[in-house]
Amino acid sequence: MESGRTEMRMVDVIAKKRDGMSLSDEEIRFFVNGITDGSIPDYQASALLMSVFFRDMDERERATLTLAMVDSGDRIDLSGIEGVLVDKHSTGGVGDTTTLILGPLVAACGVPVAKMSGRGLGHTGGTLDKLESIEGFHIELTEEEFKEQVNRLKLAVIGQSGNLTPADKKLYALRDVTATVDSIPLIASSIMSKKIAAGADAIVLDVKTGEGAFMKTEEDSRRLAEAMVGIGRSVGRRTLAVISDMSQPLGFAVGNSLEVKEAIATLKGEGPEDLTRLCVELGSRMVVAGGKADSLEEGARMIHEVLGDGSALGLFRSFIEAQGGDPEVVDHPDRLPSANEVIQVDAKRDGYIQSIGADDIGLAAMHLGAGRATKDEAIDLGVGIVLKKKVGDPVRKGEPLAEVHSNGRGTDTAISMIREHITIGEEPVTPPALIRGDIR
Ligand code: URA
Ligand code: CA
Repeated sequence: MESGRTEMRMVDVIAKKRDGMSLSDEEIRFFVNGITDGSIPDYQASALLMSVFFRDMDERERATLTLAMVDSGDRIDLSGIEGVLVDKHSTGGVGDTTTLILGPLVAACGVPVAKMSGRGLGHTGGTLDKLESIEGFHIELTEEEFKEQVNRLKLAVIGQSGNLTPADKKLYALRDVTATVDSIPLIASSIMSKKIAAGADAIVLDVKTGEGAFMKTEEDSRRLAEAMVGIGRSVGRRTLAVISDMSQPLGFAVGNSLEVKEAIATLKGEGPEDLTRLCVELGSRMVVAGGKADSLEEGARMIHEVLGDGSALGLFRSFIEAQGGDPEVVDHPDRLPSANEVIQVDAKRDGYIQSIGADDIGLAAMHLGAGRATKDEAIDLGVGIVLKKKVGDPVRKGEPLAEVHSNGRGTDTAISMIREHITIGEEPVTPPALIRGDIR
């Protein structure tokens, strides 16, 4: 050993954080390296996680933790792609179809979208599952094909590959069983490390708030958004965030091919108002982060233009075709998988819609087979729920509240969950505001 230097010990790192002090970059890297190579046992890692949970981390510590997790594994090499690569991340949400819509929207504005995507776990599938509901669509591109397609079309989606952020995987699994998931510095570094490892130059975040979200209160959602924007600033990745409402599902459709249909309708300018609005908010930020617009107003103008003149829709068609899918679905969405049965769930009384439990509608869709509970389960791409009302809407007895698209599995459970979780009352209700915050 070098003279005068003692070896770093995990017990001292834990004690320092336990007592509320900031850890040095060296200490944070020692921890992350030890997690990655297995030299730090789970009990010590857990103790540090709990200390961070109670003591927090400052902006420098968070940035160091993020970069150390990036360095624990591979980085996707996207060199050779022209332009500023902007990635979008939504923190959870039910029936969130924004990724499918934003890809073509911002690509049509000239911002390259090189998307790596995974399968979903939970209420509906992930973006990959949704895209695979298009006949023939595949995500098995070579790295060369992927980059070539991004340069040519500005849009390509590839399956997850490589060993990205293994330290985050291990820490997340530990957090899950030690009640340390709900920690702002840990969530923020986890999300940001994955985006950076996947090659993002700039990041746009949609932090959901409300009953169906990870963060139930607006204040916590704001703290999370600020934490991620702060990390982005510290590590030189321009990061912009919005806080958006998830107290009810976004749009009307919850289910894989149903959401693809909703995405196509939105790209035609015929989508649900809330979904369209959120796509404009996020899309304009992606255009700004990608350096194609100087202000959010200019970005929004560009997004409206590619929506209105059909160029985003045309780009979606070319993208589907380039990845082997049936481009005819754009003009004939009925070519997408559909369910055998569509059952209407009617209102039992007159009144106003008081609430639509986003989590519960998501769970109801999962009972129909739209999502997986475990990662190897098969999902049914054609099933799901289409809402007919939003919070604040007036409703008459006998009017449809929702449609259940079923292939025979879980139908009764889904119907009773919908009845229970779309509540109707006499009092008029002001619809919740969609955008709750803008952090940059
Ligand atoms: N999502 C993530 O990727 N990481 C977290 O820590 C929480 C949610
Ligand atoms: Ca939806």
